[in-house]
Amino acid sequence: MKKITIHMRILIAAFVMIGGVTIGLEMVGVLITRQFMYTRFQDRIAFLAKYLALNSEVGVLIADKEGLSVFARNLLSEKDVGGVAILDNQDNELVNLNREMKGPFLLMEAPVLFKRTLPGNLLFEMSAANSPLQKNKQIEEIGKVVITYSTAGIDKLMVEIARKFFWASVIAFVIAGIVFFFISRSIVVELTGVVEIARAVGNGNLSMRANPGSLPETTELALAFNSMLDSIEKHRINLEAINREMNRQKNLAEMGKFSLMIAHEVKNPLGIIKSSLDVLKKELNIGRDNLMVDYIEDEIRRLNALIEDFLLFARPATPAFRQVDVNGLVRDIVDRFRLQMDNTPVEIILEIPDRSLEIVADPDLIARALNNIIRNAVEASGACGGEVRVRAAQEGEMWDVEVRDQGGGIPLSQIDQVFDPFFTTKSGGTGLGLAFAVQVAKAHGGMIQTANNETGGALFTFSLPIRGHSDYGTNISC
Ligand SMILES: Nc1ncnc2c1ncn2[C@@H]1O[C@H](COP(=O)(O)OP(=O)(O)OP(=O)(O)O)[C@@H](O)[C@H]1O
Ligand SMILES: [Mg+2]
Repeated sequence: MKKITIHMRILIAAFVMIGGVTIGLEMVGVLITRQFMYTRFQDRIAFLAKYLALNSEVGVLIADKEGLSVFARNLLSEKDVGGVAILDNQDNELVNLNREMKGPFLLMEAPVLFKRTLPGNLLFEMSAANSPLQKNKQIEEIGKVVITYSTAGIDKLMVEIARKFFWASVIAFVIAGIVFFFISRSIVVELTGVVEIARAVGNGNLSMRANPGSLPETTELALAFNSMLDSIEKHRINLEAINREMNRQKNLAEMGKFSLMIAHEVKNPLGIIKSSLDVLKKELNIGRDNLMVDYIEDEIRRLNALIEDFLLFARPATPAFRQVDVNGLVRDIVDRFRLQMDNTPVEIILEIPDRSLEIVADPDLIARALNNIIRNAVEASGACGGEVRVRAAQEGEMWDVEVRDQGGGIPLSQIDQVFDPFFTTKSGGTGLGLAFAVQVAKAHGGMIQTANNETGGALFTFSLPIRGHSDYGTNISC
């Protein structure tokens, strides 16, 4: 069964209420008007009867039927008067005139009074006998006037008035109904707006937001609904990111396993190729200046280095933690690096505090990681040279090493990928240098961040916690 909507409920309630009020008001209005009109009508007839009785005093006294008929006829011409009778005190009819008129009829009587002036002694007696006295006058009822009147006119008028009241009520009811319809619709429209948005969101359109509307309650509802959608959207984005990361990790793990297998499989044949080449060189007496043999040896060396790098990255290795002066360690790394640089037109500038800073770390792993970052910076500086600034400093609870170069920087589209294993933009690169450095930082409870310098070039920050990493047994692996 279809449920009654809020709009319908408000309308039904409003119509019942407005209907009740207008019918009630109409009935009260008709009743009060009726009472008022009937009282005025009776008062008028009573006044006419009194007026006739006053004028008939002398006529009744002398039984002047002619004169009385003139008065009666005059009165008969009055609206609603259907008959006039004047009687003496013996109830003898002195005049009785009637005219044709539609009923129903009612009677109105008024006494004909005679005011007699009394001499002094009689006045005293009458007073003792409790007769009606007015100063020195005695009032005597000498007859009566009876007016027969019709209520048809006033009844018709009342029907007319009741009809007008009825139509006024109907018009008030319709106007109130229309006004209420639009008011209730304006309330419901805002509610249904939120419902429609909820439905659209349910169908997957998560970007939709409810219109706050103009009513405080619906505004509150819409804002609460929108903030719920915002939080769902935020969670959805987070979930998507987590999902992406999980898939990436899964793919990397698969790829890592596969690559490890290939590396193992290639390493042995390479060893065989190298030893076979050595045997051949001896047997065929090939001298040192043979270009082809040099090429083969170079490529074998390169392949070997690549496989060593990869195995280093992929094989689990347990860091050997101990107390190390990390400031001294960076100084050594840079000194050694400078020696290896030969003709590279890049200057490495070192900014390190003179004092030593002891933290718990694996110096070999940190040296390899920082070596990779500095080598990248030197490579990014290119043949045109420039300077690479290596700065180490304590920042709160962390020890930070910043490596800043003046190269081309990292394109924004690649900035999230540079730490991914195998991501490289270099023809001879493995894409494992930074991935390995990240592993080392993580194994020490630290991290690596990257950004581009405002003046150009890239900035890598390698951070380790000064208190050391509590989990000394962490392995470095994919
Ligand atoms: N200082 C830098 N400036 C600009 N790009 C950089 C810098 N350091 C790293 N990159 C980018 O990050 C990529 C990944 O670096 P990573 O050290 O992991 O591998 P690689 O240097 O390409 O190879 P490998 O380290 O084996 O020689 C680089 O190929 C390069 O595109
Ligand atoms: Mg590198």
